[in-house]
Amino acid sequence: MFIGNPKISIHELQVIVDNKNETMEFHLSNCKLRPWQQSDAENLTKHANNKKIADCLRDGFPHPYTINDAKNWLKNNLTNKNLLLAIVVNNEAVGGIGIIYQSDVYRRGAEIGYWLSEKYWGQGMMTEAIKTLVQHTFNNTDIIRIHAGTFESNRASARVLEKAGFELESIHKKAIFKNGILMDEHLYVIFSTK
Ligand SMILES: CC(C)(COP(=O)(O)OP(=O)(O)OC[C@H]1O[C@@H](n2cnc3c(N)ncnc32)[C@H](O)[C@@H]1OP(=O)(O)O)[C@@H](O)C(=O)NCCC(=O)NCCS
Repeated sequence: MFIGNPKISIHELQVIVDNKNETMEFHLSNCKLRPWQQSDAENLTKHANNKKIADCLRDGFPHPYTINDAKNWLKNNLTNKNLLLAIVVNNEAVGGIGIIYQSDVYRRGAEIGYWLSEKYWGQGMMTEAIKTLVQHTFNNTDIIRIHAGTFESNRASARVLEKAGFELESIHKKAIFKNGILMDEHLYVIFSTK
């Protein structure tokens, strides 16, 4: 998945790649990003079980979020071609961020998705995590475009994307039907400069 120098610097952040175990860690100011582990199930449940988070995401992210939801998600996603990482504070998984590679004619593009425990909102954590994964993806793959779709009501996510260098590319009118309400989707993109 990752080819290159096992220890590289991204925006002065340290990336530690363990080629033997094919794991990687990104050390950020207040958290680290690392692959999910089966043992994250309890903390995943604790932090994901929040309607405010589920309301901003696709229906595949349930509410209530039970321990079985966590175990199933981990079982299905621990081995995955996508880059799905836990956001970890004090050894506790408190959120998730992922690069989802697109296929067929869209294969030079990827989607980025993310969520964070409400306890840590407003500290700049997700902006830094997004910048880091975008940079890593552009540096180490042939991906040239990364997109994220936000619900029109999700100003926090739009702001995070803007802070991370994304631009609003298009508005998909009434593309979202969530909790019985039709909403526009705001599509944000960032391009590799290579
Ligand atoms: C969106 C989310 C990831 C943001 O994470 P975070 O670590 O709090 O983000 P940051 O601290 O890096 O930045 C948040 C920015 O949004 C702003 N913000 C927060 N609520 C806002 C609102 N209601 N309206 C406008 N801006 C808002 C903050 O002021 C901050 O901007 P600033 O630095 O200019 O002040 C987090 O709120 C979350 O997990 N939400 C639920 C899941 C979700 O929305 N996922 C994305 C789906 S597209």
